[in-house]
Amino acid sequence: MDGANHSVISEFVFLGLSNSWEIQLVLFVFSSVFYVASMLGNSLIVLTVAWDSHLHSPMYFLLANLSFIDLGVSSVTSPRMIYDIFRKRKVISFEGCIAQIFFIHVIGGVEMVLLIAMAFDRYVAICKPLHYLTIMSPKMCILLLAVSWIIGLIHSVVQLVFVIKLPFCGPNVLDSFYCDLPRFIKLACIDTYKLEFMVTANSGFISLGSFFILIISYMFILITVRKHSSGSSKALSTLSTHIMVVILFFGPCIFVYTWPHPTSQLDKFLAIFDAFLTPFLNPVIYTFRNKEMKVAMRRVCSQFIVYRKIS
Ligand SMILES: *[C@@H]1O[C@H](CO)[C@@H](O)[C@H](O)[C@H]1NC(C)=O
Repeated sequence: MDGANHSVISEFVFLGLSNSWEIQLVLFVFSSVFYVASMLGNSLIVLTVAWDSHLHSPMYFLLANLSFIDLGVSSVTSPRMIYDIFRKRKVISFEGCIAQIFFIHVIGGVEMVLLIAMAFDRYVAICKPLHYLTIMSPKMCILLLAVSWIIGLIHSVVQLVFVIKLPFCGPNVLDSFYCDLPRFIKLACIDTYKLEFMVTANSGFISLGSFFILIISYMFILITVRKHSSGSSKALSTLSTHIMVVILFFGPCIFVYTWPHPTSQLDKFLAIFDAFLTPFLNPVIYTFRNKEMKVAMRRVCSQFIVYRKIS
């Protein structure tokens, strides 16, 4: 069966964030700068961890994987939004819309589980330092990665199964700059009450659940750090920045999926945080405050320059 059989709508129209020319200009500059910066920052991390053997440890492998995911997070919605800003009619095909929803949820799901894996890694490093290398073995790292991808895929596919066959016959205007379930479902011409509940249960559950797991693990780590006072201020500042990332990333998600009125204006502005700010902030917070990483980046950059000169 293809989409044409049960729906007369083959494309959707975004209203975007604003019609005012000045605001569009500001958005264009703001989103382009953040998009380019997060692509550069995250690529640099992936390359540095891959090339520098000093960084071949569980923490940096997880970090590189987070950066890899962040490349995806910023690329699912941002380039299209930037391209759309000055277009009069911001249209997306039915398939494009479904693809966006699919990737947003795979990547979002993987990122959430990966953040938990990173908190677990810090927990082991700080609370069980003597067993760190045996617990966080290469096998364990692969397992954590596999689990995060499997959870992300299942989370996304389960929701799509419910919405892919929805009939669309009426309005096709999405008051947003990307396709996502809460607004998408509202356009279907059947009673979507049960579907809305399903989305809240699934996406709301995964974001709220991961958020609480993370907050509780970081509390636990913080308490342990405070008990052993040696070197605690550095660990405290690292941990508090991690907690900040968690709140910035999950706050908008939780609001978008658990707030009962997805047609309010607030959620589409909050979505900017997850589309542009978190992928940009992750490298800043997890990496550029980390001395080992900075040294490695300098090494990789200078090697790169030497290669270029030779060839
Ligand atoms: C992700 O982690 C795995 C296992 O630790 C590692 O082998 C791989 O290189 C990492 N991926 C990226 C993109 O850094």
